[in-house]
Amino acid sequence: MRAASPIAVVWLLTIGPAAHAEEPPTVALTVPTAATFPNGPLGESIVRGRRYLADTPAQLPEFVGNGLACRHCHPGRNGEVGTEANAAPFVGVVGRFPQYSARHGGLITLEQRIDDCFERSLNGRALPLDHPALIDMLAYMRWLSQGVPVGAVVAGHGIPTLNLELEPDVAHGEAIYQTKCLACHGADGSGTLDADGRYLFPPLWGPQSFNNGAGMNRQTTAAGFIKHKMPFGADDSLSDAEAWDVAGFVLAHPRPLFQEPSGD
Ligand code: HEC
Ligand code: HEC
Repeated sequence: MRAASPIAVVWLLTIGPAAHAEEPPTVALTVPTAATFPNGPLGESIVRGRRYLADTPAQLPEFVGNGLACRHCHPGRNGEVGTEANAAPFVGVVGRFPQYSARHGGLITLEQRIDDCFERSLNGRALPLDHPALIDMLAYMRWLSQGVPVGAVVAGHGIPTLNLELEPDVAHGEAIYQTKCLACHGADGSGTLDADGRYLFPPLWGPQSFNNGAGMNRQTTAAGFIKHKMPFGADDSLSDAEAWDVAGFVLAHPRPLFQEPSGD
C-alpha cells in the first residue's frame, strides 16, 4: 500500500468518509459492574431507576395497566435489567437517540421511546417527560451505556426479527407451547406469580399481557424474541419453524386493545 499523500490525509481528516453517511460502528455489549455506581445523587438515581425497570407494576402502579415489568422483555442477569443480547438491551441506547420512529413519523427522544413501552407493552400511560422516575430510568440507562460511543450500535441490540413469510401453523404452535412453554407461562397464558404477587413467569396473553399496539404483538418480533430467548434457560434451541408457529399461537389469543392504534 502506498503512503497517503498529505492532501489525502487532509481530506480524510476534514471531509473524510464521514461525509458519506455510512454504517455506524458496532461495539461489544459490555455490562459495567455495580461497583462502578457513582456516589451521591446520581448513584442513588441509578439504583432507583433499576428498581423501576425491574419491578414496574408495584413501583409505578398509576402508569402500568397490566402485570408486566420492563425486565420481562428487557431481561438482565445478576440483578441488572436490559443487559441481554437480542432482547433489546439498554446498553448503548443513550447514544442512539433522538432517533427516527416510523410509529411517530418523526424523531423521538429516549424518554418518548420509554413512554411508548409504558403505553403499549405495559398497557398503561406515558410518564410526563419531567417525571422523576423517568429521569431515574434514564440515569440507569446512561450508566449501562458508559463507554459506548455516541451513535455506535451495540452487538445484539434490539430484537432481531424472524420472518418466514408464511402463515404460522397455529396447531403446530399449540403443540410446541404445550411441551416447551406451558410449564412456566400456564395453560391459559396467564403466567406464574411468585410469593410476593409479582410475575416470576410473565403472562403471554389475556388482560395482564401487552396490548395489540405493542412491538411484541408483531409476529416477526415475537418470533425473533422467542427464537433467541425462549424457552427461558435454553436460548436459541427452537428451530425457526417452531419459533414462528408458537409465536403465531401466542398472538392468536385475545389481549388488551391499544387506545389509538391509528398511525401505527
Ligand atoms: C412486552 C414486551 C416489552 C416490555 C414489557 C417492555 N418493552 Fe421496551 N421494547 C419492546 C420491544 C419489542 C422493543 C423494540 C425492540 C427493537 O427495536 O428491536 C422495545 C424497545 C425499547 C426501547 C428502545 C431500545 C432500542 O434499542 O432502541 C427502550 C428504551 C425500551 N423498550 C424501554 C422499555 C421500558 C423502560 C420498559 C418498561 C417501562 C419496557 N421497555 C417494557 C418490548 C417491551
Ligand atoms: C422456564 C420457564 C420458561 C419457559 C419454559 C418459557 N418461558 Fe417465556 N419467559 C420466562 C421468563 C422468566 C421471561 C421473562 C424474561 C426473562 O427473564 O428472560 C419470559 C418471557 C417471555 C416473553 C416476553 C414477555 C411477555 O410476557 O410477553 C415471551 C413472548 C415468552 N416468554 C414466550 C415463551 C414461549 C413461546 C415459550 C415456549 C417456547 C416460553 N416463553 C418458555 C420463562 C419461561
